[in-house]
Amino acid sequence: MTRLQHFGWFLARGFGPHGWGHPYLRWNHRWTSPDLYQDSARTLEQAGFDLLIIEDAPSLGSADTIDLRVRHAFGGPKHDPLLLAPYLFAATRHLGVVPTVNPAASLPYTAARQFATLQHLSGHRLGLNVVTDTGSARHFSAAPQLGHDAAYDRAEEWLGGIRDLWRSWQPGALVQDEQTGVYADGTRMDATRHRGEYFSFDGPLNAVPFTDGEPAIVSPGGSGRGLAFAGHNSDVQLALAPLDEQSIRAYRGRIHAAAEAAGRRPADVKILFAVQPVLVSSPEEADRLVAASAHPDDEALQAIARKQSSDLETDLTALDLDRPLDRGIFGEHVSQGSIARLVGKHDDDAPLRTLLAAHARLGRLHDGSGFVGTADEFADRIEELGEWGNDGVLLWGDLHPVTVHRVLDDLVPILRRRDILREEYVDGGLRANLQAF
Ligand SMILES: Cc1cc2nc3c(=O)[nH]c(=O)nc-3n(C[C@H](O)[C@H](O)[C@H](O)COP(=O)(O)O)c2cc1C
Repeated sequence: MTRLQHFGWFLARGFGPHGWGHPYLRWNHRWTSPDLYQDSARTLEQAGFDLLIIEDAPSLGSADTIDLRVRHAFGGPKHDPLLLAPYLFAATRHLGVVPTVNPAASLPYTAARQFATLQHLSGHRLGLNVVTDTGSARHFSAAPQLGHDAAYDRAEEWLGGIRDLWRSWQPGALVQDEQTGVYADGTRMDATRHRGEYFSFDGPLNAVPFTDGEPAIVSPGGSGRGLAFAGHNSDVQLALAPLDEQSIRAYRGRIHAAAEAAGRRPADVKILFAVQPVLVSSPEEADRLVAASAHPDDEALQAIARKQSSDLETDLTALDLDRPLDRGIFGEHVSQGSIARLVGKHDDDAPLRTLLAAHARLGRLHDGSGFVGTADEFADRIEELGEWGNDGVLLWGDLHPVTVHRVLDDLVPILRRRDILREEYVDGGLRANLQAF
């Protein structure tokens, strides 16, 4: 039995130099101008997508790793996605737009006011991807960098404070009675005096209440603390997990338990699994691509080393490919999870070439070994996810017309024929569309 699912796009490189390092750069779009993103946002809306999430990292990294991050534009530059959002709202009528925001970077009162303004301007289509990365801390205050769980504690306090401010206008506070000339009733506004561990501020908020609900909250963290945050706060969880039945059900079970522990319904959190498919026109072409990926040449390995060097803020490009990786090269700042992902299942004495080659290896969609296949094969996988109770899928990539069309042109009609992808939106903005099924 097929069922409707929600679809989102994750602009994984943030608001940065799109097309850099790809042949499609010659399409001559300018990444600093809104047209590039407006064009793709219109396509996502035509395709019935619920939301577009824009990754962000406000920092170029520390002084000694900056060059690794910017040399091939993997880690920066990036402009502020919150300021791109109004241009995308102006180009669309239904699509939800979800910039990434970090509680380290803005005070609750300012954030509550900006988000409220965008929620109104967009017809209630704003979402916020709340992240807790602490690597950029030094740009925002002299306070010491927080640990992993403390960053989540701060995010809970920040979001709780923002919600208190949004709710500081009680029902009936906005009067708008032309007869009496009364616009608002100041006696129905809460002072919202917040004195917390990380923030202190007073309300009430200088923005009117919402008619169709608060901005939707999206969260990406997959740790125990991250899932608890999602259970408490999120409308959408950005999920990373292998796409087999057991992993999907286990992940969903953990989020649902966290939601129930926070007094919410499991259905309040839509769980979207992230996928980056490579769609080709025939199974034979897919087989050829997969076979070729098993034998990457040195140039392909260097390209992977460059990307990993940026992510890990550690230069792997000058290392001997035929020697084992010395883990001593990673400084304290490098996440153990990222190192574990680089190493995969290999032993300590595996040469770097083997580790990098594993990252080049592609697999086929139809047998679950990877994400290369035809649009029909991808639709089969999505349909199967739906049979396991899945809420939806988040496609991962650049927001460039070439990428968007390459993935969606054949896929959208197939998903619509199978009643997996919506034909139309409901009124009421992002929240209403997320809750429509
Ligand atoms: C899929 C995914 C997307 C993320 N996107 C961002 C991002 O755009 N910006 C950012 O600063 N951190 C991002 N993060 C980092 C998380 O907010 C968090 O700091 C980190 O994953 C640790 O959380 P966890 O241990 O709960 O997974 C992302 C994490 C994941 C798993």
